[in-house]
Amino acid sequence: MLESVIPSSRRVIARRDVPFFRYPHVFAQHRAEVERALLGAAQAGAYILQADLRAFEDELAAFCGVRCAVGVGNATDGLELNLRVAGVGPGSEVLLPAHTFVATAEAVVAVGATPVFAEIGPDHLIDANDLEHRITPRTRAIMPAQLNGRTADMDTIGAIAQHHGLAVVEDSAQGLGSRFRGRMAGTFGIAGVFSFYPAKMLGALGDGGAVITDHDDTARALRELRDHGRDEHTGEVVRWGRNSRLDNLQAAVLRVKLRHVTEEIARRRELARRYGRNLSAVREVLLPPLPDVAPGDPHMDVFQNYEIEAERRDDLRAFLAEHGVGTLLQWGGKGVHQFPALGIRQRLPRTDAILSRSLMLPMNTSLTDDEVDYVTEQIGEFYAAG
Ligand SMILES: Cc1ncc(COP(=O)(O)O)c(C=O)c1O
Repeated sequence: MLESVIPSSRRVIARRDVPFFRYPHVFAQHRAEVERALLGAAQAGAYILQADLRAFEDELAAFCGVRCAVGVGNATDGLELNLRVAGVGPGSEVLLPAHTFVATAEAVVAVGATPVFAEIGPDHLIDANDLEHRITPRTRAIMPAQLNGRTADMDTIGAIAQHHGLAVVEDSAQGLGSRFRGRMAGTFGIAGVFSFYPAKMLGALGDGGAVITDHDDTARALRELRDHGRDEHTGEVVRWGRNSRLDNLQAAVLRVKLRHVTEEIARRRELARRYGRNLSAVREVLLPPLPDVAPGDPHMDVFQNYEIEAERRDDLRAFLAEHGVGTLLQWGGKGVHQFPALGIRQRLPRTDAILSRSLMLPMNTSLTDDEVDYVTEQIGEFYAAG
């Protein structure tokens, strides 16, 4: 029962194993449908730029409420191609958070531009109020990372971008299905990028990504760039490009997953609700907002991850590991600016403080309610022990 989850007195809880993520689940979850899709594509010899890819692109665009989707090899490539289409290149600066996968900044560096990091706010997303004083004559774009299945304050970011003539390039690798004022992550700027890395909400059996956009010209340019600069109808090379196509077999799998994504989101929100209720009395942890938000709150979160802040974070993590619970420090616990090899000189004390307390609890649809209860019981035990 929910009410009895946090023990008021010490008692023995039977040990369980709750891994952070179960990779076999990515295949097992909709196995019969996935097998049929894979076999169908393989038997048809449909491997590269084939019908499943086109159908998946149309279905993804419809799901997001935009005109076009373009499948690419992975989200990192999608971000880089997107920046190129947005005209970001050598000499440009791009504003982004440091609490993101290095891929966000990597894409900026790959086009010859310079990443300029802004602080994150209490919701772990780029702080829209920390952008304007970092804008210089060289700034060309703002790249919010829609982390953990939550969308940043796109009202403020959009207004700043418009005022200063900047492009918005959304890294929505973790944001698929999340909304801000009813609009899906990925639909706010010139184009948005999703990752289909297996642990993502829409997980492929390998690498994959897509860029969504409402602009036909942008979509055409992206289709050319991902396929060696070739015009998709004539095959004529019309620009320098590269090879970064979403594999047709992965697209076949992703079509199956997309058909189930609404259930996937609903279940993640249910799990988040359970975590939130179970842990509400533990004052040493700071939780993401509950899924059921107050009227007027613009966010609809989908809980790609469940990232909490915790007192004595490292001790809690070790205690949970001892008791069979897998947790993860996102990016190994370091913001992009904290990898000395990258030579970034910026100081971001607010980001550092949040990162030093952040911890991701298991959050995926292989989790049972009992497993969530076990995880939260163990957290209660840890803090009860003092
Ligand atoms: C925020 C963010 N950006 C970019 C990426 C890169 O995605 P991919 O592995 O598809 O290149 C990821 C993947 O983990 C991510 O979480």
